[in-house]
Amino acid sequence: MALVSELELPAFDPTDPSLRGDRFHEVMRELGSQGWLAKDPFGYVVLDRESAEFFLRTRSAIFPGMKIAEIFGVSEGPLYEEMKWNILHINGPDHTRLRSLVNPALSPRAVERYRPAMKEFLQRLFTQATGGGGDGTVRCEFVEAFAKPYPSMVIADVMGAPLEDAPRLHHWSNWIQRQFDAGSMASEREGIEQAVEEFYEYAGALVRARRESPGDDLISKLIAAEEEGDRLSDVECINLVFNVLVGGVDTSQSQLAHAIRLLAEHPEQWALLTEDTELAEAAVEEALRFEPITPFTARILVEDVTFRDVIFPEGTIVLVSAFSGNRDLTEDERGPGGPERFDITAGRGRARALTFGAGVHYCLGANLARLELQEGLGFLAEHLKGLELDGEPVYESVSGIYGLAELPIKFSV
Ligand code: HEM
Repeated sequence: MALVSELELPAFDPTDPSLRGDRFHEVMRELGSQGWLAKDPFGYVVLDRESAEFFLRTRSAIFPGMKIAEIFGVSEGPLYEEMKWNILHINGPDHTRLRSLVNPALSPRAVERYRPAMKEFLQRLFTQATGGGGDGTVRCEFVEAFAKPYPSMVIADVMGAPLEDAPRLHHWSNWIQRQFDAGSMASEREGIEQAVEEFYEYAGALVRARRESPGDDLISKLIAAEEEGDRLSDVECINLVFNVLVGGVDTSQSQLAHAIRLLAEHPEQWALLTEDTELAEAAVEEALRFEPITPFTARILVEDVTFRDVIFPEGTIVLVSAFSGNRDLTEDERGPGGPERFDITAGRGRARALTFGAGVHYCLGANLARLELQEGLGFLAEHLKGLELDGEPVYESVSGIYGLAELPIKFSV
């Protein structure tokens, strides 16, 4: 038995700004070859599937959201309220209760209702990007043209908000997400507070309007949600809408952008998808596995934990690497090229990718995200012929949500 601080461990810094694109993959490969555990500036990082699942599932660890609030002195005001009510920061019976009231509204069957709107939004964005039709080569910056507007249009529809509000929703979500970025918390706190305040006002008005006249949207479903006589209060409802907005925009945007980048970099796979759009589901799963936009998530231990004969004391922060866990495959899942090959035909199955987390905080929006990504890739494969990169993608940082700032592409119509 050894105390984790007494071990000789390789060092890893997820905030190193050079960790992007191929270099990120090389560094993670090298790190993984040295064992399952490494030291990082905040604590430790675990690198294989079993250890990732252990730290995500143990009741002895929680997401360190309130620790972030404490470090940055967030102790009152709109951002504090939001952090306190964030479902990811709530644990135990309160969390179980919220999840059981919300889950039905985002079940695989419930999200099917949003499919026609997704198709319509994609068609609209395609028409804008191609100038309404014609033949020939189209060049566009994919993030601006598709990846960025599409998820906020979907979330507007999910919330029952007017479609014209999608750009505002994107703006708020993007600002509020910055609470998870240490640099922004230090330098952009006012902007974050303002976005939280504005969105609280907006979401409050929507919830009040739906109480008056219910519709077929998520807010109406949350208001009606009932579990053994229990209902959500207004505050709970507003905060859940908040979580859906903040959880559901940058994430889907970034995963769609990476999926299209990977497919543009593998023209033979794009060709397979254009020939058979039924492969869209497998393509989504492989993009989620190969380039998770949540490469790391964090836990803080609320009591001493022993795992594989190593003692992790209470208060230790453990980063969980979905990136490496997703490469830790069984013989059946490896496919002909092994885990380092992006292969939409490998038939690896979906159940074990760690991209949506694991355990009680498993992504609440996973069904919606999968559906919007499947619709996205299916539509694009039908409409963008001969997809190619038209310049170097611009990568964002891997700590936080790993997105693309720019993805220049060309295709023909
Ligand atoms: C590709 C897209 C997405 C990815 C990769 C993703 C990833 C994740 C991950 C890894 C977690 C767990 C974090 C942890 O345990 O530390 C999570 C939680 C969550 N996600 Fe997502 N997400 C995506 C899309 C969405 C969407 C579309 C929504 C909204 C409909 C959403 C709402 C949430 C919420 C509310 C939680 C917290 C659940 C809880 O604490 O019980 N996510 N997501």
